[in-house]
Amino acid sequence: MWNIFSRRLLTAPLACIVLAATANLHAADFKHDLIYQIITDRFFDGDTSNNDPAQSSGLFDATKTNFQAYWGGDLAGIQQKLPYLAGMGVTAIWISPPVDNENKNIGSPIGAPYHGYQGKDFKRIDEHFGDASNSFAAFDSLVAAAHSRGIKVIIDFAPNHSNNARNGEFGAFLDNGTFVGDIKNDVNGYFHHNPDITDFNDRYQVQYFTLSGLSDFNQEHPTVDAYLKSAAQVFQQHKVDGFRVDAIKHATWGWLYSFVNNIYTNTDTFTFGEWIADFTSDPLYHDLYKFANRSGFSALDFPLYHAIDDVFARDNGFGEIDGVLAQEAVNFQQAGDLVTFLDNHDRQRFLSIKDNKDRLHEALAFLLTCRGVPVVYYGTEQYLHNDTNFGNDPFNRPMMSSFDTTTTAYKLIAKLADLRKTNPAIADGSMGQRWINNDVYIYERAFAGSVVLVAINKNDTTATPISGLFTNLPAGKYDDFLGGLLGGFAITVTNGSGNNPVTDFSLPAHTVAVWQFKPATPVTPVLASIGPDVAQPGVQVTLAGSFSGSNTVKFGSTAATVISSSADQIVVKVPTVTNGNYNVTVWDSKSHVSNSVPFTVLTGKLIPVTFTVNSAISTFFGDYIFLTGSTVELGNWSTTYDGAVGPMLAPNYPNWFLNVSVPAGQTIEFKFIKIAGDGKVTWENGPNHKFTVPASGTGVVNVNWQN
Ligand code: NOJ
Ligand code: NOJ
Repeated sequence: MWNIFSRRLLTAPLACIVLAATANLHAADFKHDLIYQIITDRFFDGDTSNNDPAQSSGLFDATKTNFQAYWGGDLAGIQQKLPYLAGMGVTAIWISPPVDNENKNIGSPIGAPYHGYQGKDFKRIDEHFGDASNSFAAFDSLVAAAHSRGIKVIIDFAPNHSNNARNGEFGAFLDNGTFVGDIKNDVNGYFHHNPDITDFNDRYQVQYFTLSGLSDFNQEHPTVDAYLKSAAQVFQQHKVDGFRVDAIKHATWGWLYSFVNNIYTNTDTFTFGEWIADFTSDPLYHDLYKFANRSGFSALDFPLYHAIDDVFARDNGFGEIDGVLAQEAVNFQQAGDLVTFLDNHDRQRFLSIKDNKDRLHEALAFLLTCRGVPVVYYGTEQYLHNDTNFGNDPFNRPMMSSFDTTTTAYKLIAKLADLRKTNPAIADGSMGQRWINNDVYIYERAFAGSVVLVAINKNDTTATPISGLFTNLPAGKYDDFLGGLLGGFAITVTNGSGNNPVTDFSLPAHTVAVWQFKPATPVTPVLASIGPDVAQPGVQVTLAGSFSGSNTVKFGSTAATVISSSADQIVVKVPTVTNGNYNVTVWDSKSHVSNSVPFTVLTGKLIPVTFTVNSAISTFFGDYIFLTGSTVELGNWSTTYDGAVGPMLAPNYPNWFLNVSVPAGQTIEFKFIKIAGDGKVTWENGPNHKFTVPASGTGVVNVNWQN
C-alpha cells in the first residue's frame, strides 16, 4: 500500500497556509509548531534610524566587531524576513527580551544590553528595536504581520531581575516611564540584597541571591508583584502568544505559580521557563519536574539538549538520548510539552563543537521528529557559527549571515515542520525506541492511527543489516518522506498483526529516513494533552488530540463549556467544580470516550503569600519542613515530597519560610510537617492554622511550630 498522504501534503502547501491562518493563534498548544529563536539585535537591520538613538547613544558598533555592542538588528528587520521564516515552516518566533533596557555603557569600550536581559522599563520597547519614544509601534506591526502568516510570537520575559546592581543604572526600573526604584537606594525593599550565587544547588541561594550581578527583584513585595504581572499583561494586550520566561530557577518559585496563573487568567498562552538542569541527576532536577507538573509552566528541556549535544556533536552513543527520554517520560506529566533545542544563545553553537554538517542535519532531523516543541536557533539553517573562544557567549551570537533558502538545512527544516503540522504522530504521539546501537537510532511516533518511523545513522560507515525491526506502520511500501534529502529510501513492511516486520535493509553512513502513515479515518476521540494543565474555573484551556464532530469535554463528571473545536484542538472553559485533581475526557456524539488526561482545578486565582514557621522541630541533613493544607494549592493534606508544598527554606534555621501561591480571598487551613530523608512524616501538634488570603496583592503568615 502506497501512502497517498505524504505525496499529497507535499504538493499542497496552500492548504496548510489556509489551515494555519484560521487556527486559533492564541490557543495554548504549541506541539504542532516550530519555534525559531531570534536575538533581535543580531538578526536583520530593518530600520537604520534606530541604530544609535539619542537617549543611549554610543552603544552601537557599525563595524559589528565588538560582540558586546548593539549591531542594528530590530523588530522591523524580523518583520521584513517573515517570508523567509514562513518558507522554512516556522510557525512561532521567540524573540529576545524586547523591553526597554538600561542605557548606560557598562563595558570598555562598549558594553551594552543588546541581548535584552538588563530590563529597565518592562512596559516599553527598547529604542534600538523600535523607535526613539519607546513605543509599541514596531512591535505591534511585527505581531500583526506574523499573525497574518499564521506565525505566533513568543517574547522572552525576565522577571528575576532588572539591570546591573553594581554599575550602570543600578537596577533602576520604570513603570511605563515613571521611575519606581533602584537597588542603591532601596528604601521600599523592591530588591533582595544578597551576594552572588555561589552554590547553584542551594534552594535559598538560587532564588534569593544575585545572578550575574543583576538586581534581584523581591517578587514578594506587592509593588514588584503587581509591576511584573501587569507588564506581562501589557504584552498580552499587544497580542503575544507565548512567553519564554528567563531564569525561573532564580526567581521565587512559589511566586511564579501566581505569575503564570495571572497570564493564563488573562488569555490562552503558552508559557515555558528556563530552568537549567543539564542532567536528570542534577540535585534540583526533582524540584524542576515538580514545578513543571504543578505550576502550569512548561520548561526548556535542558537534559535532552545535553544528551543531543553529547550524541550528535560529540560521539556518545544513542543510549544517552534514549535514557533521558525514558527518564523524563516518567517524571514529567506532559513531556510532550517540553521545549526542545540543540543549542541556544547561552551555549556553543552545534557547529562550533563539531564542524560537520551531516551531524547537524541528523541532530535537526531528530529534534524535529522527537516529542516536545522544537526550537531552532537563528542561523542554524545557514550554518552560522563563529568559533572565537570555542564559540562561547558572546561569539554564539554573530550577525545573521545570509538568508539562503536553498541550503540543505533550510529544506530539511521546512519538510519536517510540514510533517509536524500535518501528521499528529509527530505533535501528539508516543515516542518509542525500535532499534538502537551507538550509531543508529530508529524510533517511532504514533498517535490515533498515525505513525512516523525515523531511522538515523550518524556514523561514517554503513550499518548493515538492520534486521529485526518492527513497526506500527501498516503493511505496504513507504517512500522516504524527505525525498532522499539525507539519503533516505523506501522500505517494505509486511503484515505481523500490528507488530509488523520491516524487510531488512542497510542504512548507509549519515543517513536519515522518515516514513509516515496517516489513516483515512483517524481514531477519535483521543486526548494528547491539556495546556495549561492547572487553572481555576472559568479559565480557557486547550485540549490537543484527535477529535471529530461535536464533542463534550468532562472534568470528572462535569461538562465544560466548549469555546471552539477542530480536528486537533478543543478550547474549553474550566467548569465550576470543587478544587482538586480531575481526569479530563472527551466524549463524541456517539458517547465514545477518550483516554483521560489529569488536570488540576484551582480554588481560585492565585496570589503569593509568604509563610514562615518559627522554631520548627529539629531536622537533620536531608530532612525538610513542608507545608500542607486544605486546598489543592496546598496539596490537600498530602504528606509526600511531590504532593505537599516545599521544601521550605531555612536561612534562619530553625525558622523556615516559603513563598506559596494560594487562592485569593479564600480561607485556608494548613499545617507544617517534617518529611525526613527516609520519607517519615512528623506533623506539628494542635489545631490547623487558619488564614484568610487577601483578595489581591500579596500576603504574609507568621506562626510558631505547635509543639
Ligand atoms: C538566561 C539567559 O538565557 C541568558 O542569556 C541571560 O543572560 C541570563 N538568563 C540572565 O537574564
Ligand atoms: C491530619 C493531621 O494529622 C492533622 O494534624 C491535620 O490537622 C489534619 N490532617 C487536617 O485536618
